[in-house]
Amino acid sequence: MPAPRDIYTVAELYDAIHWWKTNDLDFIADWATDSGGPVLELAAGTGRLGLPIAVRGLDYTGLELSPQYAARAEQKLAPFSKNAHIIQGDMRSFKLDRKFKSVFIGFNSFLHLYRDEDAALCLKSVQNHLRDDGKFLIEMFVPNPWFLNRSQDRLYEVCSFSHPDGGYCTIKESNDYDAETEINSVRWYFFRPLNPQPEQYKFDMRIYYPDTMDRLLNEAGIKILEKFGDRKGNPLNPESELQIYICGK
Ligand SMILES: C[S@@+](CC[C@H](N)C(=O)[O-])C[C@H]1O[C@@H](n2cnc3c(N)ncnc32)[C@H](O)[C@@H]1O
Repeated sequence: MPAPRDIYTVAELYDAIHWWKTNDLDFIADWATDSGGPVLELAAGTGRLGLPIAVRGLDYTGLELSPQYAARAEQKLAPFSKNAHIIQGDMRSFKLDRKFKSVFIGFNSFLHLYRDEDAALCLKSVQNHLRDDGKFLIEMFVPNPWFLNRSQDRLYEVCSFSHPDGGYCTIKESNDYDAETEINSVRWYFFRPLNPQPEQYKFDMRIYYPDTMDRLLNEAGIKILEKFGDRKGNPLNPESELQIYICGK
């Protein structure tokens, strides 16, 4: 069986898989509008969150590691090339020679900072690119012990979508959580009617608990201005599904 591929290499597939993911678009675009441009998004992916910001005419820059994803985002943003563009780069070490009024990292992308050192480097780069009156937003899920400690003996259904190569595809997943490193290694299996063997993709996530976020932001000298447990502005509490931080210098 072929080795699993990195999920962040096939941009068209990412867009097809995430057809359903729309519940953060207005929240992020409204926040960016209120907070003001220029806006910088870290781990911008294929431009899913960037596009609605660009449509509003804000000055938007997206930073994305995967060349394939960056190319797809650039294509989507082409009609807004006067006010929006993508830069291929690493959120742990970027130097853009300008400062931003709003910086954000959405849709769990912070979880791709696998070690405290990676998070610290990223937060330092954010500090260097944030205006003194600027705001920095982070959105990610609150770790769910049930999800992390699921049985290794079965696959769990994730979603279904129309595959870009044709036909229907159902993704099932397994995960392996290492409580010591706090890394959750996820494997996705793509089941398609005409494929006898599912294609496999993989990605890792560092699991961040709210107390770790408090510590890392504090160590980076970034002030937490507000903390929410959902996109309606309710406080973060033990029942929250999301952790949303609005930060400043
Ligand atoms: C869950 S996707 C989110 C993409 C996009 N923000 C969205 O909301 O659809 C995570 C993204 O983080 C990118 N990424 C992972 N590590 C990165 C790094 N060190 N620097 C920049 N981007 C990174 C991946 O390539 C991927 O596009």
